[in-house]
Amino acid sequence: MSIAIFDELKNYVGFDENDELRMKSLGPVVSPCLPEVVDRFYETILRHPGARVVFGDVAQVRRLRVSLLDWLQTLFCGRYDAEYYQKRSAIGRVHVRVGLPQHYMFGAMEIIWQSLKEIIYAADIANPREELASLHKLLSLELGIMLEAYKESYSEEIRRIERESMHERLTRAEHLAEIGQLAASLAHEIKNPLAGISGAIQVLRDGLARDDGRRSVLDEVLRHIARLDNTVKDLLVYARPKPVRVRECELNRVVERVLTLIRESPDAKRVVIEYIGDRHFPMIAADENLLEDVLLNLLQNAIHASPPGARVIITARVADGFAELAVEDFGHGMDEAVQRRAMEPFFTTKARGTGLGLSICQQIAAAHGGVLHIQSRPGAGTTVTLRVPSRGNQERDRVSP
Ligand code: HEM
Ligand SMILES: Nc1ncnc2c1ncn2[C@@H]1O[C@H](COP(=O)(O)OP(=O)(O)OP(=O)(O)O)[C@@H](O)[C@H]1O
Ligand SMILES: [Mg+2]
Repeated sequence: MSIAIFDELKNYVGFDENDELRMKSLGPVVSPCLPEVVDRFYETILRHPGARVVFGDVAQVRRLRVSLLDWLQTLFCGRYDAEYYQKRSAIGRVHVRVGLPQHYMFGAMEIIWQSLKEIIYAADIANPREELASLHKLLSLELGIMLEAYKESYSEEIRRIERESMHERLTRAEHLAEIGQLAASLAHEIKNPLAGISGAIQVLRDGLARDDGRRSVLDEVLRHIARLDNTVKDLLVYARPKPVRVRECELNRVVERVLTLIRESPDAKRVVIEYIGDRHFPMIAADENLLEDVLLNLLQNAIHASPPGARVIITARVADGFAELAVEDFGHGMDEAVQRRAMEPFFTTKARGTGLGLSICQQIAAAHGGVLHIQSRPGAGTTVTLRVPSRGNQERDRVSP
């Protein structure tokens, strides 16, 4: 902070050599009474719970009494120069460090002013009015310095925190990119041998007699391989997303196709899936395959979260320039912590989840210039909504990130 502000402040309140002289002559008069000022100051602020919290222990209060007494004594010493100013501006920084809210300063300075005023009235001074006017100016200066230093130190602190969090976010993004690459190469390495194993086992199974009990063992192995293959596919999609091909497409068709697909799965048979749409939706501009991927992922999550027999409701809407696809379930829902992290890649609460479902959905939403929105209440259920511009946007035909 520059001394120019101090000069400017002095100018502003009209603090000149006469004021300086008056303050110095007051010194010996008020000096014996200053400990009382300190007492009154602490009595008052310690009564306020909000102010009290900044004090660590009794030792700190004792230390501060000494500092404040020193502050009061030097208030009447002068010179009110650069050195004085530097010393005074350290106080604002200390107040930031101890987490003292700035608004307490005004009240605190008022207590000091009232106490000193009473002392000066009680002293044997012929006409105290001028003395009081000088003191008032000086206390305004003190408040100005303290607040200015507070503000500077506070914004420095904010900038430091911002720098730190930016650094953290960058490291995190780099980390995720690395995981993505690793995942992609790993997925490639796994995919081909997996296809070979699956083929070989099918040949073995088909070679067995129809009533051979080992057939069911091999079927089970094939199911496991299919699941592995799906996981690997998810990883690949996440690490190297498909390009977005925006075409005219029909929302009803997207839903119908996904329903045909998913109704076959045993998981889906545990719940009752309903579709609420409109037979006459206008055509929208989007990538049909990607919308299907989103709906499939959302349905899978909804089914996993639902108790047997529960309803899962798909809603489609085209209105006001947007197309919306929502999947609502009445399952276990998510608490706040899970909801906050649900779209993070690799975040999962499931023993066998990859944690990529929602993050892929979010990527697809973003690639369409839209958003994915989660609304959830623990124990009550969840609604996840995809919302994209119905006529595409400037980003159409763009390759997703
Ligand atoms: C006009 C009002 C005030 C003045 C003139 C003042 C003055 C001072 C001074 C001179 C210091 C020592 C700075 C240093 O170590 O360099 C200080 C520190 C401190 N002040 Fe104030 N203060 C004021 C208001 C307050 C208020 C209202 C609170 C609490 C509610 C408070 C709490 C503290 C604390 C906790 C410290 C740090 C003590 C330590 O750990 O050493 N101050 N203040
Ligand atoms: N409908 C839902 N109800 C309750 N929790 C959900 C729901 N959808 C997602 N979640 C929570 O969000 C987490 C992340 O979901 P996401 O689809 O990204 O991954 P996943 O389902 O765990 O794994 P994957 O989709 O890769 O199989 C889930 O593990 C679950 O905790
Ligand atoms: Mg999922």
